Amino acid sequence: HRHLTGIEGLQPHEIMFLLDEAERWIMPNAEHAAPDKRLAGLTQINAFFENSTRTLLSFEIAGKRLGADVVNMHAAQSSVKKGETLIDTAMTLNAMRADVIVIRHMSSGAVRLIADKVDCPVLNAGDGRHEHPTQALLDALTIRRRRGAIAHQRVVICGDLLHSRVARSNILALTALAAEVRVCAPTTLMPPAIERMGVTAFTDFDAALEGADVVMMLRLQTERMSGGYVPSPREYRLRYGLTPERLARAKPDALVMHPGPMNRGIEIDSSVADHAERSAITEQVAMGVAVRMACLDVLTRRARGVEGWA
Ligand code: CP
Repeated sequence: HRHLTGIEGLQPHEIMFLLDEAERWIMPNAEHAAPDKRLAGLTQINAFFENSTRTLLSFEIAGKRLGADVVNMHAAQSSVKKGETLIDTAMTLNAMRADVIVIRHMSSGAVRLIADKVDCPVLNAGDGRHEHPTQALLDALTIRRRRGAIAHQRVVICGDLLHSRVARSNILALTALAAEVRVCAPTTLMPPAIERMGVTAFTDFDAALEGADVVMMLRLQTERMSGGYVPSPREYRLRYGLTPERLARAKPDALVMHPGPMNRGIEIDSSVADHAERSAITEQVAMGVAVRMACLDVLTRRARGVEGWA
């Protein structure tokens, strides 16, 4: 693979290979005394056409830890605001001889479009409702470390599935790795025919939670609901919020996850999100840096004359 535009198309052994590669970059295992600057001399451009805290910062930190020269392009301060097209923007980045480009865009498929036009590897940092592959990898790594395995874990993904690229990428990764995936949403936020992705669909959150090993909550993405049905926060919390009472239906040691940013008091209560033993939310962020270091390393191997994918 020249690019990482999605989990779709990756074989289970390729997903596992990326998780194994990420393990070596997890602090405090990483050898900070003798830093590994394997991306020294390479230019990494992070082109973000949509807001981000975790993904942008962790890609920046990941590139810098490996010695790359990292440049961030924020669309709000770029010539995109003057009407420059996506293709022209991509050709401009290409002409600057980037060695790797990381892109977030509000349109599904925009990252693929750019990947087809440029000469260097492209990593998808989230495109519309389509995919967020590094999020799924960091979630899979978190599950594997905290639960000891991914196969046969009962993972419940609950919330705004209709607008969620995080859910799509996670479903693709977790089903490929033989987890039992349950999805739960109100019918208005459930994508049609989602069962075809190999998951079991629920509208009753209490029923979905029975025996869960992992509960992954999604943010209500009201910014993507223009013209559609927007649930009232109070009503939503009542039926789909992860409260301590509801979490009691899952296994006693079930893991709580959320990709962030969270709507506290809507899809997740603070007492659950901040639970010392159960919540893996800050660990997910830490795994994000390790996973992005691995992806930057693996995707630039061919250009550095090193053997690439497994
Ligand atoms: N999880 C995630 O993608 O967060 P950001 O939007 O802050 O990058």
